[in-house]
Amino acid sequence: MTTNPSTTGAASPLAPEWLQVPADLNALHEGLWAGGVARNKAGELAIDGITVSELQRQFGTPLFVMSENDFRARARAFSDAFNDAFADICGGVDVYYAGKSFLCTAVVRWVEEEGLRLDTASGGELAVAARAGIPGPDVALHGNNKSDGEIHRALDLKLGRIVVDSLAELERVAKIADARGETAKVMLRLTPGVHAHTHEFIATAHEDQKFGLSMAGDSTDQAGLSAAEEAVAAASGYPGIELLGLHCHIGSQIFEPDGFALAAEKLLDFLAAMQTKYSIVLPELDLGGGYGIAYTPVDTPRPAAEIAQAMAAVVRTKCAELGISSPRISIEPGRAIVGSTTFTLYEVGTLKTVRVDAPAPGDAGAPGESVTYPRRYVSVDGGMSDNPRPVLYDADYSAILASRTSEAAPQLSRVVGKHCESGDIVVRDVYLPEDVAAGDLLAVPGTGAYCWALSSNYNYLARPGVVAVRDGSARLIVRGETEEDLLNRDMGV
Ligand code: LLP
Repeated sequence: MTTNPSTTGAASPLAPEWLQVPADLNALHEGLWAGGVARNKAGELAIDGITVSELQRQFGTPLFVMSENDFRARARAFSDAFNDAFADICGGVDVYYAGKSFLCTAVVRWVEEEGLRLDTASGGELAVAARAGIPGPDVALHGNNKSDGEIHRALDLKLGRIVVDSLAELERVAKIADARGETAKVMLRLTPGVHAHTHEFIATAHEDQKFGLSMAGDSTDQAGLSAAEEAVAAASGYPGIELLGLHCHIGSQIFEPDGFALAAEKLLDFLAAMQTKYSIVLPELDLGGGYGIAYTPVDTPRPAAEIAQAMAAVVRTKCAELGISSPRISIEPGRAIVGSTTFTLYEVGTLKTVRVDAPAPGDAGAPGESVTYPRRYVSVDGGMSDNPRPVLYDADYSAILASRTSEAAPQLSRVVGKHCESGDIVVRDVYLPEDVAAGDLLAVPGTGAYCWALSSNYNYLARPGVVAVRDGSARLIVRGETEEDLLNRDMGV
């Protein structure tokens, strides 16, 4: 076995194929960062002119740093792109921001002020919506296992739509609404059997999973009717239900428009068939969320306008073919609005370099001989408790040295957290300058969606705060937890 000590500066055989050695380690890769994030003259990362060291001084690390202007701009861009594309088809699109990706009262207010609506998935998310004061008719409630309490709350708040996930739930919503002498506005969530190209745990419209009413013909015991059709038929018979239309969501972090288009076609076929068969009108069709973002330089999501145009073309053609007027279309983007608005700021602590065997590339050793290469472990002061996505979905991220620039050579690094698990990885593979040292600050972009939202208190780490930066000033929109917060829930008995 040969030891090859001089691999810094060149691509490491330990790196995945997609990872290139950056030409400039200090450069920010466009597409990963929120608008307003740049290095200042001294080389330090800043957002709207506020440096990361200043943010650390004021708020500590780890810290989620979100650009409010960028959030608002992305919300508007998404809404404009879809409204333009669908204007002549159904007068525009209702955009429901998927609150599960990141939710707090400030964000609900931004969503409302930018003319979007809100998609919630639990009583807790409804509580945030209610506290923020968004009107109930602009809110939707999802969930495959809603409690009676959540259904009552939806009716209390006069929600614009409850997205019903099963026949049993349809019956429960009908009973509860009826008992209250009210009518629930309902969408039916269907599974069109479209397989989205994404991680298995975030693909949601194929048959073999927990969500939605199956459109496959023999999925219930009622004379060959699909669960979806059975629900349409039953809904018309319940006085407590106003059936608005159909819904589907095919998965998350999807780059290509084909899956959305295919799902739209299937749903429109079904909608037209139901309208004819049951002499009803289903005025709404929700095509869900799932639009992907870039986490690393090799991710190339389509711009919102391109996806919107592709989906609009399909809806236009399909409705013409079926001879129906298009239902009002709605969508539910979460990640595509909030994901890239935010970076997580960490402080570097312990560093360690290991040497790992890899087959010798080219002439670096005798044929068949393996060579060892260095991999540097860079520990930060957070980890899987503030971003479990690498552990849950093998998600890739990138990172840069934020507190300063460096002219040192690139070194293949793995950014890891401080939890008691070897799988506690924040960024699996990234080139960082070899002089990264304890006390440096690292920034990981693209952490706006499903990071804070999925955060935990593993190892009794306090969840980080979220800072919103707008026009040169930074304010906490969610305070970080303290040890006292954690201990307060321990009853001590
Ligand atoms: N609508 C429904 C019904 C959903 O279930 C979801 C996400 C969305 C909209 C928003 O999807 P988005 O546009 O954000 O992709 N934790 C996973 C993602 C789970 C998505 C859950 N549902 C992750 O971190 O990748």
